[in-house]
Amino acid sequence: EAEDKLQPRPPVVTIMGHVDHGKTSLLDALRGTDVVRGEAGGITQHIGAYQVTLKDKSKITFLDTPGHEAFTEMRARGANVTDIVVLVVAANDGLMPQTIEAINHTKAAGVPMIVAINKVDLDSANPQRVRERLLEHEVVVEEMGGDVQNVEVSALKKMGLDALIEKIQLQAELLELRANPDREAEGTVIEAKLDKGRGPVATILVNRGTLKVGDVFVVGAESGKIRALVDDKGRQIKEAGPAMPVEILGLSGVPMAGDPLQVVENEARAREVAEYRAGV
Ligand code: GTP
Ligand code: NA
Ligand code: MG
Repeated sequence: EAEDKLQPRPPVVTIMGHVDHGKTSLLDALRGTDVVRGEAGGITQHIGAYQVTLKDKSKITFLDTPGHEAFTEMRARGANVTDIVVLVVAANDGLMPQTIEAINHTKAAGVPMIVAINKVDLDSANPQRVRERLLEHEVVVEEMGGDVQNVEVSALKKMGLDALIEKIQLQAELLELRANPDREAEGTVIEAKLDKGRGPVATILVNRGTLKVGDVFVVGAESGKIRALVDDKGRQIKEAGPAMPVEILGLSGVPMAGDPLQVVENEARAREVAEYRAGV
């Protein structure tokens, strides 16, 4: 890609950690929403994708992952499509099996980590103990002489949120994230399903370029033409640029999570590529 076509893009930040340590609550606090209340049994079972616009108009894309042990594959995927991982550790519970699993996914993906020590409002909270236990997994935070950033937060009391955002922005600046918005879009499937009313639907994270209504595309072994783009607030939009998560309608079938999406010149070309990929 020509250097002069690259423009700054928002960071993609994946929230990871053990079940019920407060990942979705933290995102709710940042977004002013109440997703947790709508979840069956209070358990996240999919990857949520959201974009937050900050006071200075800059944006951060967040992916919320499940902490339940059954969803290892989603956590691995979350770590692999992101720029930064925020590891949420409940200060009362400390390091738990999926905390450690998330550390390992993050290291395997080679992505920088910020530790959010949550639930510091509880009497039983022991953030220092969390910092010490992280050492055992070679996550060395600043107070322990390392360079991993950490911040004490309470999603419940909305404490430490500005400090967390600041650390994310600082880390993002170091990464110098850029993409060319003025080209045919490429993206990655975050999730896909067959919706009763709407047919095949996929949540796409746009990696580069701008995805537009009417674009013809190939995604994994499926193809299609964008009939509608829906943002994280359920609004229909006309286009989605780099680092934006968006639901697409107009798919020939349900692609697989992790599949790459590519805009192509016409439908004949789309079918050709899709059939080739499907091995027809
Ligand atoms: P999974 O997605 O199922 O892994 O859980 P999660 O990490 O998203 O946790 P969730 O946001 O569902 O919160 C779990 C419980 O912890 C809920 O009852 C929250 O109200 C509570 N909780 C979250 N953050 C805080 C906090 O800062 N303080 C206290 N006291 N409770 C919190
Ligand atoms: Na939960
Ligand atoms: Mg959750």
